[in-house]
Amino acid sequence: MRFYLNNNWLFSPAFTEDIVNPLASVEGMEQVRIPHTVKEMPYNYFDEGIYQMLSAYRKSIFIEKKYENKRILLTFDAVAHVAKLYINGEYVMSHNSGYTAFTADITDYVRFDAENIILLSVDSREDKINVPPFGKVIDYMTYGGIYRDVYLDIKNPVYIKNNFLYSTFESDRIILNTELEVETLRESVTARQFIETEDGEVELSIETDKIKDGKLCFKCVVPKMIKRWDVESPKLYNIRTEIFENNILCDESLVKFGFREAVFKKDGFYLNGKKLKIRGLDRHQCYPYAGYAMPKSMQVMDADILKYELSLNAVRTSHYPDSHDFIGRCDEIGLLVFTEMPGWQHIGDKEWQDVACENVKEMVTEYRNHPSIILWGVRINESVDCDDFYMRTNEIAHSLDKTRQTGGVRNFKKSHLFEDVYTYNDFSHNGKTPGCEPKKNVTSDMEKGYLITEYNGHMYPTKAFDQEDRRLEHALRHARVLDAVAKETDIAGSFGWCMADYNTHRDFGSGDRICYHGVLDMFRNEKMAAHVYSSQGDDDFLEISSTMDIGEHPECNRGETYIFTNADEVNVYKDDVKITTYKKSQTPFKNLKHGPIPINDFVGDALLNEKDFSHKTREDVKKVLNAYAMYGFGGMPKKVMLTAAKLMFIKHISMERDIGLYTKYVGNWGEKAPVYKYEAVKAGKIVKTCVKTITEGPALRVSPSNDSFYIDKTYDVVALRIKAVDEYGNVLPFFNEPITISVSGPVELIGPNITTLRGGMGGTYLRTLPDAKEGDSAVVTIINAQTETVRLEFMIHKEEVKEL
Ligand code: GAL
Repeated sequence: MRFYLNNNWLFSPAFTEDIVNPLASVEGMEQVRIPHTVKEMPYNYFDEGIYQMLSAYRKSIFIEKKYENKRILLTFDAVAHVAKLYINGEYVMSHNSGYTAFTADITDYVRFDAENIILLSVDSREDKINVPPFGKVIDYMTYGGIYRDVYLDIKNPVYIKNNFLYSTFESDRIILNTELEVETLRESVTARQFIETEDGEVELSIETDKIKDGKLCFKCVVPKMIKRWDVESPKLYNIRTEIFENNILCDESLVKFGFREAVFKKDGFYLNGKKLKIRGLDRHQCYPYAGYAMPKSMQVMDADILKYELSLNAVRTSHYPDSHDFIGRCDEIGLLVFTEMPGWQHIGDKEWQDVACENVKEMVTEYRNHPSIILWGVRINESVDCDDFYMRTNEIAHSLDKTRQTGGVRNFKKSHLFEDVYTYNDFSHNGKTPGCEPKKNVTSDMEKGYLITEYNGHMYPTKAFDQEDRRLEHALRHARVLDAVAKETDIAGSFGWCMADYNTHRDFGSGDRICYHGVLDMFRNEKMAAHVYSSQGDDDFLEISSTMDIGEHPECNRGETYIFTNADEVNVYKDDVKITTYKKSQTPFKNLKHGPIPINDFVGDALLNEKDFSHKTREDVKKVLNAYAMYGFGGMPKKVMLTAAKLMFIKHISMERDIGLYTKYVGNWGEKAPVYKYEAVKAGKIVKTCVKTITEGPALRVSPSNDSFYIDKTYDVVALRIKAVDEYGNVLPFFNEPITISVSGPVELIGPNITTLRGGMGGTYLRTLPDAKEGDSAVVTIINAQTETVRLEFMIHKEEVKEL
């Protein structure tokens, strides 16, 4: 029986020893709910000191008399960073990691038929705790608080402590292997196992049943109809395992499980025997204002964005394991996960390393039933070689999970390799150099797998409100790396740095406590680089890299313009006159399924108007005008300069006429603003259209992450992504205006009610209040002085979850 304990906590930002006393006054403590952050933060320019404190959480629970002969287990899914648990004033245990769960058997501390006080001291002072990732600088904020679920399990004295399931494959048979850690395991304990199929629940026949290393281990052959889990069809099955003693049911565990074979070989990654190029991004689990403290719906949103908006097949949970809500969603949608032990560059003393090893043990034990996880990261991200330490972490991971390989992220080549896969942050691309290094230059063992775990990031920080040229170069760098990785047949794939911008310590980022390394902004709005990823998917996609306003570029030279699309071809029109059609084969990114296509013609057949030009002259003039449009006079390629000279001196086209031609066909000054129209064509049909012209005025487009709130184990949050767009839905990148957000109904805002758009984009979060009921509704109103007001209504659904 499980009871969630996420509501009705009291919080104090200052822990003192006397709070431990259950009779201590709770005056001044604040009512909070879990997930909770010790401090709500501004958007940027805040000091990381504000979330560093020794705080206290307190909750009273009534435990009924009927549970007297049971075991009472209290679990915290994540408390950042060092937690000390007291029950009724007595110290129970400490836990040293903000990123893994811990469970305390509190049976001997509680009173039955009485109120019991849970008290937790929570230390988020970075310089006071000797646990990973602390000890030196860190390029991310580490926030504090109880930020994942808390629950109480009530069990019989014989119960399942841990249930590890894994699949093996023997010719055409799929075997389900189980290792059950049972509290008070005796010979008399037996197990039964069931799988839920389309035809209902089927009991599996247990083949061998033995006690090994204190665990009950057995195998079952699963029915033929069972399908494998894959990125394309991530089939999950509910597996129920029951344990009995003397034919009496003692406990059961339910696992959502997927059968799959995942292995890194020297020439790449194989899922169920098929080679698959990993294409992913690194994710930090933080959000504006709330830090780490966001409920399930926000974790699900991130996984869905990665899979469905960015068309990725993988994510690296840098630099710690993410919540089960996030990874569980990856299981459901088929997003591969590389998760890793907490840490960043620094390796501490012996005591610190012991904690790190414990963290690896916790990570593997806690997460190993997720089919989406394909690799354990058992090195501190980007740390130096430290053989004894890393032999230990590898040994721990391998002994707890024989089915998964290990990796460990380094930022240098040819390091000591105890892992199965060389995982490396390849920042070699600087805009001019090749997209990635060949495997042989990096790894110390060509026989083992090789995976790139970061690229770009700090090499080219880019804000959503940067100038267009920079945003384009950011996008192209992502394209170049992806293209280069796609070409290398012995690189398993790559993760780009990173999914979204994130708040960071003073030593990093742009001085405002933000690393602008994301292909999304902090609210998960897409920057131009996101288009490179989105266009690799199957959903019709078309975006143009430019607003087509030449004045945005130095000297009014438009430079390069690209089409991001997965169409077969794109028709381009200027003022309804067709300029040209671009074919997908025109991309220079030959190894990508859908590489960005450069636009190099802004004139097309419009010169037919110049009746005195021969066909050849027209073609030459077009070449010159296009080159001039892109690079200006000074930047024109030599060959085109020669053509220009030929036109002037041999064809006698005067300077005056030249200027006239430029003004008419490229600059369009003084004329009606040109309308560029792009049509994406797939299999002969127009599937998307994009129009670029001068806007008459902005409008707000607000995209909520959900149209209703769903309250169950805790409050719910809806994210709003807000964009200023033109008549055709294009984001207006320099609309950085204030917006006012107000709510009515049982919902509150996370963050300020007056904010601005940045790069034409912004966002906010709405959270249900404790008194929200099933059937309630809430309205949010978003006002900007220049646009029409947007009002959205949300329904509230509440599932009553059993309280103690
Ligand atoms: C890497 C590091 C990441 C992030 C990134 C920025 O060195 O692993 O956490 O700091 O650089 O590009």
